[in-house]
Amino acid sequence: MSLKALDYESLNENVKNCQYAVRGELYLRASELQKEGKKIIFTNVGNPHALGQKPLTFPRQVVALCQAPFLLDNPNVGMIFPADAIARAKHYLSLTSGGLGAYSDSRGLPGVRKEVAEFIERRDGYPSDPELIFLTDGASKGVMQILNCIIRDQKDGILVPVPQYPLYSATISLLGGTLVPYYLEETDNWGLDVNNLRQSVAQARSQGITVRAMVIINPGNPTGQCLSEANLREILRFCCDESLVLLGDEVYQQNIYQDEHPFISSKKVLMDMGAPISKEVQLISFHTVSKGYWGECGQRGGYFEMTNIPPRTAEEIYKVASIALSPNVSAQIFMGLMVSPPKPGDISYDQFVRERYVSTLNIHALMKDQDLRTSMENFINSKGILESLRRRARIMTDGFNSCKNVVCNFTEGAMYSFPQIKLPSKAIQAAKQAGKVPDVFYCLKLLEATGISTVPGSGFGQKEGVFHLRTTILPAEEEMPEIMGSFKKFNDEFMSQYGDNFGYSRM
Ligand SMILES: Cc1ncc(COP(=O)(O)O)c(C=O)c1O
Repeated sequence: MSLKALDYESLNENVKNCQYAVRGELYLRASELQKEGKKIIFTNVGNPHALGQKPLTFPRQVVALCQAPFLLDNPNVGMIFPADAIARAKHYLSLTSGGLGAYSDSRGLPGVRKEVAEFIERRDGYPSDPELIFLTDGASKGVMQILNCIIRDQKDGILVPVPQYPLYSATISLLGGTLVPYYLEETDNWGLDVNNLRQSVAQARSQGITVRAMVIINPGNPTGQCLSEANLREILRFCCDESLVLLGDEVYQQNIYQDEHPFISSKKVLMDMGAPISKEVQLISFHTVSKGYWGECGQRGGYFEMTNIPPRTAEEIYKVASIALSPNVSAQIFMGLMVSPPKPGDISYDQFVRERYVSTLNIHALMKDQDLRTSMENFINSKGILESLRRRARIMTDGFNSCKNVVCNFTEGAMYSFPQIKLPSKAIQAAKQAGKVPDVFYCLKLLEATGISTVPGSGFGQKEGVFHLRTTILPAEEEMPEIMGSFKKFNDEFMSQYGDNFGYSRM
């Protein structure tokens, strides 16, 4: 019998070749162990609500009313929903052509795209055109749409940072293109050296690859660094010289933990540079509702903004977006709300701000005593999700750096910690014998011993012979000391089991 199209042997090879470590072997094993009753701490995916972060009330009220518009006709609606949430729900419903059950324009609702453009203008101080903004089902879909337009065949190369978030490696292999790596410098706080970029491009060209675009992830995943303005200028100049499209993945722009290294958008730096560069470089910038203090990963809302893209190309991108008819409409409303949250003077403003700042600690479960609870709430309310993440980033970095054969840069932004694990050669041999990549071997042992589910550095790419793991910094703050304690205990035992047969020096 001849093979059928969906028999494994005859599948599209690009599908078989593509790898996605964030939900790979480690994740599958963690899920198995969980089914067997083991307590698993899932630190493999940046999925804040799965780790206890509570949704913000205002956006959920607005979307609830949009989902159930008949509530708006109920005379008691004002007793359950604040007037500004009711007004916003009516506003968003008026932007749709039949509520949340109707497809929208394939680029997203024009009214929400206008709100996104206004947000970008406020952020960067430069005009933004709603016609050049597309709403997408999460940033991932936008990245896939754009890479699909860029990659023509195997000879087309995309510069991708190493380590990188595997959306890029996976999509490039799915589309049959070539990933051209450029290495971030761990000893320089994961900085980006433009000379490395030049070398990467030259090497790719010598192999007949046409390098067409460059990806930056700022703030970095898994590396957590924020690119400086000077670095962004160099990158933009490089893209201009080499005629590369810059894909700016800026989904972590609200997750910043070090005041000296603020987030600066690629669009702002490009515009600041003035002509001719500001008119030359083709830039696509991505954002999402999944990260920041919203963390609404399950809603699947995102956008991309195009700068210096010719109208005929924008038309083609629109045509391709039209094949999928419409992005998820409730996610578009989440995006609208994220870029235009309650303002001072609005009824929901105080609560919104308080929630934005409330930590993910489950204080009600912890504190039964009313007075204690009130004072604890007051204390915690003066802090924030972002403040708490900053503290968690510090606890993790310090915890890792206190462990034998582990070194870790501070998480300046995003949601991850990416320690380097200096594996003894006996451990590397044991991994080989077990048929595992060394960092997968280490992470599996960590999982079995402690229930901490991480992602091995090899899933993101790393220099030859250097090993890492990635964890999120999302577990609840009060659980952090215990998690880091059990990591340290495991690591001590691992290192003494496999011996310290190399000179260890801190970076
Ligand atoms: C760097 C980066 N880009 C994009 C995404 C995807 O975000 P979304 O949920 O909007 O698809 C993620 C998710 O973790 C990410 O880390």
